[in-house]
Amino acid sequence: MKTYAIVGTGHRSYMYLNALIGPHAEDGRLVGLCDLNIGRAETAARVAAGKGFSVPVYAHTDFDRMIAEQSPDRVIVTVPDNIHAIYIERALDLGCDVITEKPLTMNAEACARILAARRRTGRSVIVGFNYRYSPVRTLVKQVLMSGIIGHVQNCTFEWLLDTHHGADYFRRWHRTKSNSGGLFVHKATHHFDLLNWWLGTTPRRVTALGRRVFYRPEIGDAIGLTARGERCTGCREFERCGFRLDIADNAHLTDLYAENEHIDGYLRDKCVFSPDIDIEDSMNAMIEYDNGVVANYVLTAYNPQEGYRVVFDGTRGRLELLNVERSHVQPDGRLVRPALEETNRVRVQPHFGRTYEMALPKATGLHGGGDKVMLGRLFGPASNDEYGHVADDRAGAWSAMVGIAANESLKSGSAVVLRDLVEGVETPDLVAEPYGAARIWQDFDPELYPFLEGAEIV
Ligand SMILES: NC(=O)c1ccc[n+]([C@@H]2O[C@H](COP(=O)([O-])OP(=O)(O)OC[C@H]3O[C@@H](n4cnc5c(N)ncnc54)[C@H](O)[C@@H]3O)[C@@H](O)[C@H]2O)c1
Repeated sequence: MKTYAIVGTGHRSYMYLNALIGPHAEDGRLVGLCDLNIGRAETAARVAAGKGFSVPVYAHTDFDRMIAEQSPDRVIVTVPDNIHAIYIERALDLGCDVITEKPLTMNAEACARILAARRRTGRSVIVGFNYRYSPVRTLVKQVLMSGIIGHVQNCTFEWLLDTHHGADYFRRWHRTKSNSGGLFVHKATHHFDLLNWWLGTTPRRVTALGRRVFYRPEIGDAIGLTARGERCTGCREFERCGFRLDIADNAHLTDLYAENEHIDGYLRDKCVFSPDIDIEDSMNAMIEYDNGVVANYVLTAYNPQEGYRVVFDGTRGRLELLNVERSHVQPDGRLVRPALEETNRVRVQPHFGRTYEMALPKATGLHGGGDKVMLGRLFGPASNDEYGHVADDRAGAWSAMVGIAANESLKSGSAVVLRDLVEGVETPDLVAEPYGAARIWQDFDPELYPFLEGAEIV
């Protein structure tokens, strides 16, 4: 049984913690919790104790001592993005393997340091790209690999964050480029990784535009929220504001943040119209890939709806995945219940043939079912990784590099070549036979393509 330590015991760490004290308690043992805010580490230890697990806590200054005393096989890194590299490098140098949250890191220099540390130590780094593992996105990978739509030439990818989820990136550390790299790195790393993985290639060149059009003081004023405070708690506009975060009404947020803010001053509910924000909320990128594909990518963070649409145009037809994760946000900013009324539609339109809609695989839990499948892969027994779901530091670097290049392009106004960014970056493992180039076109044949079972002509 492998042993695990977690550094960064905020929101995201609970996915790993709950797995190790819950469904994966037989697969791995949690031996240490470490955080800058010792109160938050203790909160996590109390949650573990509630399930009968005694886990020691360590201040961030005692990270090395935690490793020496507890000898974890793997360190799980769930600190803010700008600190990932510090802990990844240190954990590798202290002889541990690493599972890190995305993005791998935020800038080219830190990417190079992580890659060098992995080479130097011979240890492994896995990046928690949970989006890859969702069953519907795996279905898209299967369709692309089958050759049903031929060689992909163009891709359009639009991602919508609503005024509940999208606004959250403007409340706390993500809101500055120096902490998160902006949404081109922090958020879009998921989407750029999906494209690299789906297309089975590496990106070559990026041109980007980006602006902050919505989370601005002028917009707050324009919608009549003129008496705004620094944060939602105690704000005079609280009752009227559709963007408010009601920490007091949420036991998890209260335990995690409000109860511990006296220790480090971390305010979870800062105003989304603050003048301190310097990240974009509206972004466009054009990405050229080594296999010739060109992708147009759009990300907006102030939508009434949460979801995405990705379209692949190939030499034999077109594939579209449409997702609506939430149809709308309530006027008081709360989520519609049930919170995740997710719908997906996967359509294939062959040239000279009728369009059909795929039967959807079952998915449960957050992030389109990706979290649960990923945890099984990370903690559960080893099994064949047929679709190449597990992403390492090279894949993490190639995804982060698209966002880093986009940020460079925003400044320079020019196209940025990715290989120039990180010296010696290796090509990640790409799942073999993308686009099934050698296969012969067979319309709608579940014998040949089992994932066509249940598909319906529309
Ligand atoms: N894959 C996903 O879907 C997903 C979802 C949410 C967050 N994340 C990622 O998880 C990471 C954490 O995000 P979060 O929402 O949990 O943030 P958070 O702010 O809730 O938690 C971060 C924790 O790190 C601690 N910390 C800060 N500086 C530290 C330091 N120097 N040493 C040790 N601890 C330190 C903070 O006190 C806090 O407890 C981020 O990298 C984020 O991108 C991924």
